[in-house]
Amino acid sequence: MEINKTILALLLSLFVSTFVHETYANKQIHALSRLYKAKLSKDPAVNTSHFEPPKHLHKDKVVLDQTGRKENDKIKKLPGQPYVKFDQYGGYVTINESAGRAFYYYFVEAEKSKESLPLLLWLNGGPGCSSLAYGAMQELGPFRVHSDGKSLYRNKFAWNRAANVLFLESPAGVGFSYSNRSSDYKNGGDKSTAADNYVFLLNWLERFPEYKKRDFYLAGESYAGHYVPQLAQTIIYHNLIANKTLINLKGILIGNAVINDETDTMGMYDYFGSHALISDETASAIRKTCDFSPNAATQPETCIDATNDADYNIEAIDIYNIYAPLCFDGNLTTKPKKTSWQNIDPCSDYYTYAYMNREDVQEAIHANVTKLEHDWEPCSEVLKGWQDSATTIIPLLKEFMKYKLRVWVFSGDTDARVPITSTKYSINSMKLSIKTKWHPWLQQGEVAGYAQVYKGDLTLATVRGAGHQVPSYQPKRALSLVKHFLRGKPLLDSSKG
Ligand SMILES: *[C@@H]1O[C@H](CO)[C@@H](O)[C@H](O)[C@H]1NC(C)=O
Ligand SMILES: *[C@@H]1O[C@H](CO)[C@@H](O)[C@H](O)[C@H]1NC(C)=O
Ligand SMILES: *[C@@H]1O[C@H](CO)[C@@H](O)[C@H](O)[C@H]1NC(C)=O
Ligand SMILES: *[C@@H]1O[C@H](CO)[C@@H](O)[C@H](O)[C@H]1NC(C)=O
Ligand SMILES: *[C@@H]1O[C@H](CO)[C@@H](O)[C@H](O)[C@H]1NC(C)=O
Repeated sequence: MEINKTILALLLSLFVSTFVHETYANKQIHALSRLYKAKLSKDPAVNTSHFEPPKHLHKDKVVLDQTGRKENDKIKKLPGQPYVKFDQYGGYVTINESAGRAFYYYFVEAEKSKESLPLLLWLNGGPGCSSLAYGAMQELGPFRVHSDGKSLYRNKFAWNRAANVLFLESPAGVGFSYSNRSSDYKNGGDKSTAADNYVFLLNWLERFPEYKKRDFYLAGESYAGHYVPQLAQTIIYHNLIANKTLINLKGILIGNAVINDETDTMGMYDYFGSHALISDETASAIRKTCDFSPNAATQPETCIDATNDADYNIEAIDIYNIYAPLCFDGNLTTKPKKTSWQNIDPCSDYYTYAYMNREDVQEAIHANVTKLEHDWEPCSEVLKGWQDSATTIIPLLKEFMKYKLRVWVFSGDTDARVPITSTKYSINSMKLSIKTKWHPWLQQGEVAGYAQVYKGDLTLATVRGAGHQVPSYQPKRALSLVKHFLRGKPLLDSSKG
């Protein structure tokens, strides 16, 4: 047990020390690493048993009156934004009145055909990281923040070219979402998050009734590999109890997703080994001597030495995108720096932080930071502890195949944190039959990634040259991927002409 704790401490220091060049993004690493550490050391504070959907949340009991709320939530204009033709909304949805718990959302309608295009909810991971900070302002949202921290520019490849996109800050304690009962910040976990996200959706659809019957999709990355399938299962389960479609869920899309602790960890070290980040000897020692299974007891000395060596070797790179430049100067600039859709500025976290903490911005988006009593943070500093986190969500993915829910799992292939090797091992462990074998998918003659389709409507796709936050690094490829996903159209198999 003691040795096991040592290796976990090493694992932890590995993820923490990676960002010696302090960025806000490193908080995402802290959160995930803390949780991994607690889970692998079998900390009794985290229940790792199989996820069960929350007890029946009866619609009539959890849905509050939403009359007039939609109009109030309409955002006239974000400060510093260029002119656009689509509508934006932002505001709070009360999750539990007696606790005083409310979630903040930001909604961007589709640029064209908003009446017919589907609704897509995007979730970031952590636990504790904001979908506004990453999803909306740095990945797939319509705008990105300039280096002046106060003006915005268009993201040409925003996902509201393909869907009406809803960003949710969840659970309470993340971003502008809060609870008046402070114990809620200590009692977060997979189960309560799924329940709260579900209550959010029911209420939100009441506020925006025109989306009630619309095809609905759930998407997210990283620890949303838990949130998305768990919310999907909660939706399916409640539709079954009600014997009607309360939420018209059609599919889920998860990227660089935490789905199976054992293969996620092994895949990470194999990725280090296969990308010349660690020596062959270290890679082989980890493979031969470490045991990352949930039942592992202690790790031998050789394993500890090897992971220690791996730690040293990857210390100075961005493990979330191994070929990316680092941020050395996060100071705002008087004039915006030149931007490029191909290369996201590695200091974007700082610009977003500055922007979201401006009073005029918070007023415009109907966020209320005075309720928070702290700054808006990209990854939460108030969320403490995590009650439950299953060691695997593979059983949920299997269940979805029975219900014929579309499941797409994608991976930016330059992420070393939850890399393609991890995702492949996890999907392989499902032992599915292959429908369309591994093949490149193309965009304007260039390989955008690779894909494999399994029988039962599960697709595994890579995005070439993308780090952990795929739409940040390969926005054009990411938009093509999501369009194919939403249409249920296989990624083009170039081998077939
Ligand atoms: C963990 O969660 C499972 C399923 O929700 C439950 O049956 C079990 O009692 C929990 N264990 C502890 C120690 O709380
Ligand atoms: C609100 O939270 C309280 C305390 O946890 C709980 O008893 C109650 O059922 C919740 N209310 C609703 C409508 O879910
Ligand atoms: C939380 O408390 C504040 C101050 O009392 C109140 O204005 C707010 O409405 C409460 N939030 C919820 C969701 O009830
Ligand atoms: C469920 O609804 C269908 C019609 O929508 C009905 O035929 C069926 O009897 C219902 N089942 C139950 C168990 O109520
Ligand atoms: C950023 O600004 C601070 C405060 O003005 C300054 O001390 C620091 O040197 C700047 N950083 C860089 C890398 O220029």
